[in-house]
Amino acid sequence: MKIKSAKFLISAVRPEQYPDEGLGEIALAGRSNVGKSSLINMLVNMKKLARTSSSPGKTQTINFYEINEQFRFVDLPGYGYAKVSKNVQSKWGNMIESYLRNRKNLLEVFQLVDIRHEPTQQDQQMYHWIRHFGFHGIVIATKADKISRGQQSKQLKIIRKKLQMEDTDILIPASAENRQGKDEIWQLIADIFCKKGIEIEIK
Ligand code: GTP
Ligand code: MG
Repeated sequence: MKIKSAKFLISAVRPEQYPDEGLGEIALAGRSNVGKSSLINMLVNMKKLARTSSSPGKTQTINFYEINEQFRFVDLPGYGYAKVSKNVQSKWGNMIESYLRNRKNLLEVFQLVDIRHEPTQQDQQMYHWIRHFGFHGIVIATKADKISRGQQSKQLKIIRKKLQMEDTDILIPASAENRQGKDEIWQLIADIFCKKGIEIEIK
């Protein structure tokens, strides 16, 4: 993907703060610390477009990033961070739900899970939600650099089983560290937009 421009638009909490619905969006959901913000940076070849942190709970709002003035990545707040109060967690849940439920220009949701761990109950719930709202739910298994290729295929099977994915459902191992999965993810993004009649140049 040739990145001509990538810019942060806004950090939103309420729907009134979302940018206009003029461009298609791809959202990234997943547990806190799974690597959502890092994946955005990896895809656009920028170290610091989306803010990342080794301590969980960094992204607490819905962050919109506009790429090549053609489409947007939407970084959703991470769920499942134990140190956040129940009250705040339920606010995040509502924030994510109202975005998924009402956003007309949302084309697809990528759900990120850590390749090293069995998906949690909240991951299962999120995947269920995504499908309930009518998206395919593309699963990206992050931090693949942390384990060998042999272990990767073992872990991918566990993830598939736990999320009750069909063979045709898409699961991609990826790494923000060594860029594994990058071309495959861009190809998928191009396909998603192509189906909507929008051409995204990826080469
Ligand atoms: P929240 O904003 O808290 O929801 O987290 P997040 O999902 O955006 O995670 P973030 O991208 O901030 O990454 C969390 C930590 O994991 C950081 O220390 C990253 O450097 C690290 N990390 C993310 N992706 C990878 C990866 O592919 N490989 C390795 N080795 N580390 C990664
Ligand atoms: Mg983040």
